[in-house]
Amino acid sequence: MKNTVLTLQQRKQKQQKITMLTAYDYTTAKLMDQTGIDCILVGDSLGMVMLGYEDTVSVTMEDMIHHSKAVARAVKSALVITDLPFMSYHASVYDAVRNAGRLVQEGQAQVVKLEGGRAFCEHIKMITQASIPVIAHIGLMPQSIKTLGNYKVQGKAYQQAKDIILDALAVEQAGAVAILLECVPAALAKLISELVNIPTIGIGAGVGCDGQVLVFQDMLGMYDGICSKFTKTFAPIGQQMKQAFTEYCQEVAQAQFPAPEHEFSIDETIIHTLMD
Ligand code: KIV
Ligand code: NA
Repeated sequence: MKNTVLTLQQRKQKQQKITMLTAYDYTTAKLMDQTGIDCILVGDSLGMVMLGYEDTVSVTMEDMIHHSKAVARAVKSALVITDLPFMSYHASVYDAVRNAGRLVQEGQAQVVKLEGGRAFCEHIKMITQASIPVIAHIGLMPQSIKTLGNYKVQGKAYQQAKDIILDALAVEQAGAVAILLECVPAALAKLISELVNIPTIGIGAGVGCDGQVLVFQDMLGMYDGICSKFTKTFAPIGQQMKQAFTEYCQEVAQAQFPAPEHEFSIDETIIHTLMD
């Protein structure tokens, strides 16, 4: 059965943790979906881990739609959430609604996510009014890297912590179906999770959130760009991939691959006739 926004709400009510990972392609999303994961996020982190950009600000609507469609085709049960990329919703509420609509119609997303708190409540309200569920991403907002200067924990000082709480309360009021909390102190994330009635999904926000998300290349040790304290390598797949590539090259170089069992045969007499 396909998960919906109701699944998120029910998880919070039953105090069952929500599981989420990012995926950007058909093969990975299919493997993930088969494990019974609750949600798959087509994050704009694809700019870095899939496309090799330095940050997420170069990611376009076309990039998001392309990867979202691939994920949606693979998924039978997980809730598919797709990020609105930088500049697809900043200039106007109109842009926000149109582009959220494109992620649903062309990208087959069930839910969209945008970065912003109080400043984006009108956007959240109008996207929701267009019958598209929205997740608000607050705390560390990577699309703001140019004004932030670096990726660091948000809300350690009193005023900053208070601002994040006010953002959380405001986006709930605006109709967000969940809140993504990135890189905030664990105790602050726990407090916010208790203050709001919608689920919180954390990344670098401690165990007190209603759910967790990680970037799949990070949790498999495949990406050596920015490495954060908050990720955990669940399996050293990056290392295993490198080893497999190395072995392949060696076997090809030494003519050990392909072996007879990998070859197709033909009647010898045909070859002899061809040689005449
Ligand atoms: O783009 C992304 O992968 C995200 C997660 C870090 C939450 O927004
Ligand atoms: Na993102």
